[in-house]
Amino acid sequence: MPQTEIQRRLGLPHPIIQGPFGGGLSTVALAAAVSNAGGLGSYGAHILEPDEIAPLVEALRAATDGSIALNLWVSDHDPGGDDFGAEAFDAVWPLFAPFFAEYGIDRPEPPNRYHPRYADQVEALLEARPDVFSFVFGIPDPAVLAACRQRGIQTLGAATTLAEAEALDAAGVDLILATGSEAGGHRPAFLEPAENNLIGTLPLTRQIASRLRRPVIAAGGIADRSGIEAALTLGAGAAQLGTAFLACNESGTHDAHRDILFSDRARHTALTRTYTGRLARGIPNRVMAEMDKRAGQLPPFPVQAWFLGHLKRAALAAGDEDFASLYAGQGAPLLKHRTVADLMSDLTLPSPQPALA
Ligand SMILES: Cc1cc2nc3c(=O)[nH]c(=O)nc-3n(C[C@H](O)[C@H](O)[C@H](O)COP(=O)(O)O)c2cc1C
Repeated sequence: MPQTEIQRRLGLPHPIIQGPFGGGLSTVALAAAVSNAGGLGSYGAHILEPDEIAPLVEALRAATDGSIALNLWVSDHDPGGDDFGAEAFDAVWPLFAPFFAEYGIDRPEPPNRYHPRYADQVEALLEARPDVFSFVFGIPDPAVLAACRQRGIQTLGAATTLAEAEALDAAGVDLILATGSEAGGHRPAFLEPAENNLIGTLPLTRQIASRLRRPVIAAGGIADRSGIEAALTLGAGAAQLGTAFLACNESGTHDAHRDILFSDRARHTALTRTYTGRLARGIPNRVMAEMDKRAGQLPPFPVQAWFLGHLKRAALAAGDEDFASLYAGQGAPLLKHRTVADLMSDLTLPSPQPALA
């Protein structure tokens, strides 16, 4: 198969990108293993403090000679999520108090900030110079995109609709990710509420590839070699896989989540604002049921994520997954591999040659 433009630009032997994972689920070991196997390893850095970014890129550089992508969330709060004061905290606390009590956790003090500032993170990223700056939930401002161009950092922005892809294209973003609603994790819409557009990977990839000149990457529900070949047939220059890499031992998730990804429970996923306040896909469990009941009352991102973080840690420490965020995409029932080496070698097997007549 001939090399795609994306492979050429990023020096990739294979048209495969490991999707970044936020929330502490990325690891250096995972990203490096993917890059060392000829794909693009990514690290989701949106919850890192700015001063953690340079040492992270150093650690990635030490672990691989391949290209690496660093990922940030361009918008770091939803309306009301940046100035969530004591009164607002008091108003939502009763929603969480019974579950905190179940795990014996005291009422926490509100933090000074619920999320690091994107504006500071991106400055640190520019200094650290990863090969690729991938981002979701918006478009970096022109000065940041210009600084990336000047430093030779390729930019990779996510679109959930053709209109978002056109906006990324007009801003001069180098590579466009077509994120179908099959994808695990968040639906990173930025022009309209995420619920308004749940277009799938197949039509979205094809629309963007046929309308724009920028190289396109397909993401959402792709978990095996046939899926990657389908993405390339649609005009994508690479496929980004998340759930299939999350299931590998090298990722930062916990074993209970991995086991559920490989079980029949993963045949059903749902979209919910439970985990963070932003729409995301995962496998239904108790926390999704409890929070979905309270949907209209939940605090905005990133406050919801902060409350859920306490419950998730306590639940996992107690040995149950009732309050864990079981992120998963619709491709989960296709999963077979538990290590990056096994997954990458299966994804990159040469296609069978047509039999000679
Ligand atoms: C647990 C989890 C966390 C994710 N976090 C991020 C993130 O921080 N930034 C991002 O750009 N994409 C994130 N994604 C999306 C993935 O990088 C990828 O695009 C998506 O998982 C592809 O769909 P798939 O899971 O069906 O393969 C996340 C996905 C999952 C499953």
